[in-house]
Amino acid sequence: MASSRLPGFYRLTMAERLRRLAAELELGDEPMAQLGQSATLSLPTADAMIENAVGVLGLPVGLGLNFVVNGEELLVPMAIEEPSVIAAASVAAKIVREAGGFKAESDEARMIGQVQVTELADPAAASRAILSRRQEILDQANAVHPSMQARGGGATDVQVRLLPVGGETHALVHLLVATQDSMGANLVNAMCEGVAPLIERIAGGRVRLRILSNLADLRLARASCEIPLPALAAFGRSGPEVAEAIVAAIRLAQADPYRACTNNKGIMNGVDAVAVATGNDWRAIEAGAHAFCARSGSYQPLTVWSIEADKLCGRIELPIQAGTVGRVLRSSPLVPVLLRIAGNPNARQLAAIMAAVGLASNLAALRALGTVGIQRGFAALHARLNAHWVSGRTGR
Ligand code: MEV
Repeated sequence: MASSRLPGFYRLTMAERLRRLAAELELGDEPMAQLGQSATLSLPTADAMIENAVGVLGLPVGLGLNFVVNGEELLVPMAIEEPSVIAAASVAAKIVREAGGFKAESDEARMIGQVQVTELADPAAASRAILSRRQEILDQANAVHPSMQARGGGATDVQVRLLPVGGETHALVHLLVATQDSMGANLVNAMCEGVAPLIERIAGGRVRLRILSNLADLRLARASCEIPLPALAAFGRSGPEVAEAIVAAIRLAQADPYRACTNNKGIMNGVDAVAVATGNDWRAIEAGAHAFCARSGSYQPLTVWSIEADKLCGRIELPIQAGTVGRVLRSSPLVPVLLRIAGNPNARQLAAIMAAVGLASNLAALRALGTVGIQRGFAALHARLNAHWVSGRTGR
């Protein structure tokens, strides 16, 4: 799109916003019909998706504005019930866009599947045996889903970790699987179950759990930004003062898990909102992010902020197990439309976008927290919403 900067978008009625969006993105009638509806998931679809269905729960979907990621103008679909999150991310994205935008990337989408082998007479010998038949295991895993391998993905490696568990040494066989544009959970689980009997025979033990790991640390997404200090001036504070406050807030998060947890919650406000809007499994992303934060043994913030020369530099790195095909598209007819609004990213691009939105959410929160506080800092963002409820303008 030409520009993700849409001044006054928030002041429009929803109908006006939709017209503006249709004009900006040249969306056709069919996708437009999916937007602006209070429920896009039919009851029969809902009934087929889960068990014991009794209804459909709505969630507002909004657009994060002002984002520039790797030089691309980007509207970010976000689904969330919490006020201020979208406005705050958009405000931070505006500051960052004036400084050149976010840089973001993500690794090739690779998941880890785990096959646990217990009751091993000689764990080290079992490990050697498994590794010596690596190709056979991979071939069997890929036979479970040959089309993934045909598309350039599939099981690519086997690793073995020997782990003391309850007085015994277990072998955790890791199956590394390139999942391309899918999140990969079903694929990896099916492969783990498919290779389990072979692994059991090779290792001479007993296979127990066969399941993916949501600590998807082969699939990291990163985003960064550099903001000239004067651009941070806000709430009557100078740019350097605001930058110092942001850096001090991250220092506290590095020292205190109670603060780090809340810091990361604010980041996941943004990441999850994009995950939900794009039909992704936000619980998997949450679980992976928090386990990744604790990998050193002490729970750490997902972001780092520092002042270098005359700039505030921010960085985020986290595992993002997100897809843009398969189950994602079937979760709601709105998802393909929202992915289209986001520029039809592939899975790696979507993960990079999520990382940038997480960094923006953190910048907005720390900028307010480090100065006037979250209540006053986000008050202006709430004001429009309050006016909306007070005047009863719902449904527009
Ligand atoms: C609220 O949803 C998120 C914040 O608490 C994040 C933070 O404290 O960094 C404002």
